[in-house]
Amino acid sequence: MSNIAILEIDGKKYEFPVIVGTENEVAIDINKLRGETGAITIDPGYKNSGSCTSNITFLDGEQGILRYRGYSIEDLAEKSNFLEVAYLLIFGELPTAAQIEKFENDIRKYTLVNEEMKNIIDGFPRTAHPMGVLASLTSALTAFNPKSVNVDNEKEMYEAVCKTMAKFLVIATWTYRKNMGYPLNYYDNTKGYVENFMRLMFELPTGPYKMNPVVVNALDKLFILHADHEQNCSTSTVRMVGSSHAGLFASISSGVSALWGPLHGGANQAVLEMLEAIQKDGGDVEKFLAKAKDKNDPFRLMGFGHRVYKNFDPRARIIKKAADEVLADLGVDDPVLDIAKKLEKAALEDEYFKSRNLYPNVDFYSGIIYRAMGIPTEMFTVLFAIGRLPGWIAQWKEMRVNKEPIGRPRQVYTGSPLRDFTDINNR
Ligand code: SDX
Repeated sequence: MSNIAILEIDGKKYEFPVIVGTENEVAIDINKLRGETGAITIDPGYKNSGSCTSNITFLDGEQGILRYRGYSIEDLAEKSNFLEVAYLLIFGELPTAAQIEKFENDIRKYTLVNEEMKNIIDGFPRTAHPMGVLASLTSALTAFNPKSVNVDNEKEMYEAVCKTMAKFLVIATWTYRKNMGYPLNYYDNTKGYVENFMRLMFELPTGPYKMNPVVVNALDKLFILHADHEQNCSTSTVRMVGSSHAGLFASISSGVSALWGPLHGGANQAVLEMLEAIQKDGGDVEKFLAKAKDKNDPFRLMGFGHRVYKNFDPRARIIKKAADEVLADLGVDDPVLDIAKKLEKAALEDEYFKSRNLYPNVDFYSGIIYRAMGIPTEMFTVLFAIGRLPGWIAQWKEMRVNKEPIGRPRQVYTGSPLRDFTDINNR
């Protein structure tokens, strides 16, 4: 592989350095492109453009490979747990027993959310979508934690990480409690992080919540599978907002908003709604495949396709297997799961989907498990956000510690050339 790329514009040749990553990804460094040639590149949706180098997550879309800090997602999902994976993503190494115990205890120092935050959530109608409430509450945390973190001070950065992991989980469950008209719960420092999620969500003042280890284990695995995914839309948003030196809560809040979109994290809710629509319509999956292929029909097969994976999303394989196990363990027989499998089989055999390398992604089966756990559909993307939080924190921290420049893309102007101002009487 040559270490330079040659570009010819108007008969003049320019050389640019080529960088090669750990897994032999090749990139042309165009840092000096505009200065040397006067030209810029353009790439709507950044399908061919890298925004950074990163040590956190590696994806190979053709092979269907996903690794966090070099560990395969299959190993981590099977052998690790969510807080360990959060520590790995954020600090770069799997923690020792002492480190993970300290991390969990340090998170517990911040699990009490300022009572005045309740006044903010009271301002929302019960019908507000949980993702909109979560984005607002996350940004509002800045009001109660105004001091911006000095990213070069390891202690301060560590405390900001623990505070964010603690408070985000609590306020995320408050969005559901608000929706249901239930009192807001407090974190129980005698219980684990994922156990607390279930308690915070479902424990009522009328009696203790009965923890189901099957659900806790499945949720822990689902959070691991959602924890990071290199420069996806919401993570790129967190890095972009953080690049202006906006605080961590404000940056995470922007990530929540980006994740909400149905083309991104909001797809898990859209998948369930799609499967329920197919069920209501009589279960004819071919009819909906035809709609997805019809260019005149805005309908897309939610949970299918991916910007990077042109093979099976490795997370979808793991979640599909978990769906069978969890529903069997919970004794749930959900006809929507059968529809999902029928739809997947038909799509994978269909020329339109095969020719475009469209496979099930992380969102295709996750909602079926959430539903079996009693999680309401509108909360599915909130669970995605809880899982993705460590990735957002890790990527924000990497961007800031590496002192990356403020993100400010260029453009090509295609509007009107210079023209004289026209007085309103002459328009
Ligand atoms: C996530 O980036 C990440 O890493 C994201 C994520 C993460 O962990 O952060 O993995 C999480 O967001 C997963 C994706 C969830 N979204 C959905 O399931 C929504 C449905 N999928 C599509 O909207 C679409 O596949 C995207 C948005 C995911 C990817 O879109 P791209 O890369 O811009 O691809 P494209 O729109 O250019 O599609 C290429 C072709 C087009 O057809 P042609 O113009 O070539 O004829 O494939 C078609 C598209 O019309 N196509 C689909 C389709 N997805 C793509 N056709 C029908 N149904 C679909 N789902």
